[in-house]
Amino acid sequence: MKAIVVGSGGREHALAWKLLRSPQVTEVVCIPGNGGTALLAGCRNVAMADTEADGIARCALVNNMSFVLVGPEQPLAEGLADALKAQGIKVFGPSKAGAQIEASKAWAKALMAEAKVPTAAAAVFTDAERAIAHLQQQSTPIVVKADGLAAGKGVTVASTVDEAIAAIQTAFSGQFGAAGERVVIEEFLQGQEVSVLAVTDGQTIRPLLPAQDHKQVGEGDTGPNTGGMGAYAPTPVMPTELLNRVQIEILEPTLKALQARGIDYCGVLYAGLIVTPAGDPKVIEFNCRFGDPETQAVLPLLETPLEDIVMACCEKKLDRLPPFSWKNAASACVVMAAEGYPGPCKKGLSIDGIANVEADDADVVVFHAGTRLSQEGLMSTGGRVLGVSAIAPDFSAALAKAYRAVDNIQFPGSYYRRDIGHRVKGITHQGITS
Ligand code: AMP
Ligand code: GLY
Repeated sequence: MKAIVVGSGGREHALAWKLLRSPQVTEVVCIPGNGGTALLAGCRNVAMADTEADGIARCALVNNMSFVLVGPEQPLAEGLADALKAQGIKVFGPSKAGAQIEASKAWAKALMAEAKVPTAAAAVFTDAERAIAHLQQQSTPIVVKADGLAAGKGVTVASTVDEAIAAIQTAFSGQFGAAGERVVIEEFLQGQEVSVLAVTDGQTIRPLLPAQDHKQVGEGDTGPNTGGMGAYAPTPVMPTELLNRVQIEILEPTLKALQARGIDYCGVLYAGLIVTPAGDPKVIEFNCRFGDPETQAVLPLLETPLEDIVMACCEKKLDRLPPFSWKNAASACVVMAAEGYPGPCKKGLSIDGIANVEADDADVVVFHAGTRLSQEGLMSTGGRVLGVSAIAPDFSAALAKAYRAVDNIQFPGSYYRRDIGHRVKGITHQGITS
């Protein structure tokens, strides 16, 4: 079996890595991939933009690929899956219509209301005046969101009315382009965030192990939001009974509402949830793809071959697949970023030590988030550079292994949080199953 993975981040490296762990998979092509996928045995990078539908289709057809697995949301929101399917190519990732669940927060809110899925109360506005008038009748903290894809910068959790007004004005100022033409103002939900990545063939939906990520750049979960500074799974915040509630109260009704809109959704439905202090799961947002860095923590635990899940989804046979099989272990991923992240940061930093840390410990794997392989060796290309993952019988041991590896990887000015997994240290994974 041969497959294409579309994207260039840590998530895509983890997807390619997991596919190639299976003897059934003989080749993975990453478009465009990164330094990690360039070094991965059995994997080859093809330099092409992840949104270039014609080129990706050609590559899939010429190489007789079994399927295309799309990592990022942008190509899905632009209709990559539709373009590939139109040429008879199997694709794991929703259509443009389905990707609206992430690409338009207002659309997702309407869908959730229809499906009676628990979520924050919200109102949608197309002009600043009405949005501000509404805001003045609400209490703080309050959340202001640009409707569309804004590269992770469109959400403000405002603790004062002034801050919320500024966020509304920023969105309508055009700073986020079309993504800010509509603004969602919603109730602030208190509690712990959990990411449930579920896979679906459009008829059946099944969750993977629940994960938590650390979005904020600073230790103690402080400072600006990032793409994610680390993750771990399976989180004890979501034991099996609660995951069953997520399945019944959130995932299944959402899938039904998608079906009612005529959307044949194949791929990942990622539910970003809050578990309220009362213990109830509520949706903060949906994404139409695997989470990053959650994937780098979840996939090392998955024993079921990933290609079996992908093919079952593409062929609408997910109901026939046996329950997913998981390693009885805890998993953690620590992100190493370049100094300055999430602001501007230096690129082209030379990276050393990865091969040694992987050779020293079979339970450690280093996923590349922003690297390229050059003649001089591995160089950084972005803010998030690496995701160092490790598995062990409990979280403390998994975190210790990941940090030991981090200590032995060098690039100038590397920055990482030292407190990833602070909530779960000392906890075993409690045999959570999905
Ligand atoms: P989003 O892009 O919608 O996931 O929002 C980014 C982050 O903002 C989330 O991961 C949460 O930490 C926070 N957030 C978004 N919506 C809410 C909400 N309604 N209540 C509390 N926090 C929120
Ligand atoms: N880790 C958050 C995301 O993938 O959106």
